[in-house]
Amino acid sequence: MNRDEQKRMAAEQAIRYIEDGTVVGVGTGSTVAFFIEELGRRADRIEAAVSSSEQSTALLKKLGIRVIDLNSAGEIPVYVDGADECDPQRCLIKGGGAALTREKIIAAASRKFVCMIDSIKRVDVLGKFPLPVEVIPMARSYVAREIVKRGGTPVWRDGVTTDNGNWILDVHNLRITDPVALEADYNQITGVVCVGLFANRRADVVIVGAETLK
Ligand code: A5P
Repeated sequence: MNRDEQKRMAAEQAIRYIEDGTVVGVGTGSTVAFFIEELGRRADRIEAAVSSSEQSTALLKKLGIRVIDLNSAGEIPVYVDGADECDPQRCLIKGGGAALTREKIIAAASRKFVCMIDSIKRVDVLGKFPLPVEVIPMARSYVAREIVKRGGTPVWRDGVTTDNGNWILDVHNLRITDPVALEADYNQITGVVCVGLFANRRADVVIVGAETLK
């Protein structure tokens, strides 16, 4: 199975977690695009979606799915998203598509987080994929220096502005053996809006192609 086939397969599995009449939390990315396609086939059976990006909002609306604000949604039963890397404890690196902050907020506001990946994203230790960190633009250099002190190599994703008007630093050369501690540590740096490490709120269910890990 190639990567796109695995992504489509994972999306078909993920749709099973969505109950009729509920509000669905929707992530961002190429895997989520397959999930939105599936959701579109059931547009009349779901209440609405809460979206993590302008990109996903556009796809959802195109398929006739109502998109509502998180503030009017209350607790969301299921949030479905992709990831860039996933370790055996279901901790994730996310943010390759720069949507990490809204993704993390919706994941936090959801009862269940279903994560869809293709097999290449399964790793023993997170960090080969550069860790995205969203920063307030004026804090970019300061945050970068703080990350260097902590052993990371930050690279500014020049030209990319997030949906929140912020910038992204991608941190290379990490070997994240304690994702909870690193997430907490990076969160303490003034100017950091969000760290693309989903360890404190990790996935509850990981679907790799056709295979579901719990
Ligand atoms: C978006 O910012 C990311 O967190 C995506 O969820 C992640 O990059 C996975 O994207 P793909 O499904 O496109 O690989």
